[in-house]
Amino acid sequence: MEAPDPELLELARSARTVTVLSGAGMSAESGVPTFRDAGTGLWARWSPEELATPEAWDADPELVWSWYLWRARQVRRLRPNTGHRAVARWADRARVHVVTQNVDDLHERAGSRVLAHLHGSLFAFRCSVCGAPFPARLVPGLAAGTGAQRPPDPPEPARERPPECPACGGPVRPAVVWFGELLPEEAVERAAAAVAEADLVLVVGTSGLVQPAASLPLVAVGRGTPVVEVNPEDTALTPHADRTVRAGAAEALPLLLPPPDGRRPAARRPSTGR
Ligand code: APR
Repeated sequence: MEAPDPELLELARSARTVTVLSGAGMSAESGVPTFRDAGTGLWARWSPEELATPEAWDADPELVWSWYLWRARQVRRLRPNTGHRAVARWADRARVHVVTQNVDDLHERAGSRVLAHLHGSLFAFRCSVCGAPFPARLVPGLAAGTGAQRPPDPPEPARERPPECPACGGPVRPAVVWFGELLPEEAVERAAAAVAEADLVLVVGTSGLVQPAASLPLVAVGRGTPVVEVNPEDTALTPHADRTVRAGAAEALPLLLPPPDGRRPAARRPSTGR
């Protein structure tokens, strides 16, 4: 990617309150499969209906539990990329609100405080019956560190029984929003407030296909807040964005932000859209 044009750099560097709306593409360069990239997408191996729905859980809690635990352990072996770290560093220079559709913890492990996980988290758990939160530290095989310290994971999930809720004995489930479930209301409210107060909204790595998350950037557009999209491909949001950066998050985000010591990256002609 070539360096963003000076106007886009100025927009990014002068913003005082930035809301970052991230999707699966934010974590792609860390090795977390996206949802819809054909072939490499996470769904390439399983159909969403099989696993990420209340019906799938009711039909076979062990299968759904095993898949999410396997995904969580896989994420723990991965590392935040330079895009996550750039977002975290940005908070040294502006108020940065991170709102993510991702259920991984890579923003947090890069140093960001995540304002809202709109679709929940692989590392939050609750009872599927009484709803009581279940501590992640009690989930087998999850707390064993991150990165290469972790024991190798099997290439496919092995069937495991979900823990029992201490309060009611019900099976514990991932606190992830499944298809057909409502998003956590307070998370959506926090996200909407963050968009409303931003003087720049940065949309990174989302196809903009899933509501209500996909509507958040449009709220910013409606308010006249500059919306910058970072994505190697066109998306449903592209026609509405003020600027598009046709590159991956790990490459583009560090270029949008000033380097830690204030040096300006070598400026070459921009590859940004309108
Ligand atoms: N950097 C930035 N964007 C990237 C990168 C990258 N390195 N690689 C891929 N992308 C883009 C793709 O072009 C695509 O537009 O990331 C986007 C990923 O889109 P999806 O796979 O649809 O993921 P997302 O938009 O986050 O899905 C939203 O759908 O399945 C549900 O709950 C799930 O949170 C998920 C939601």
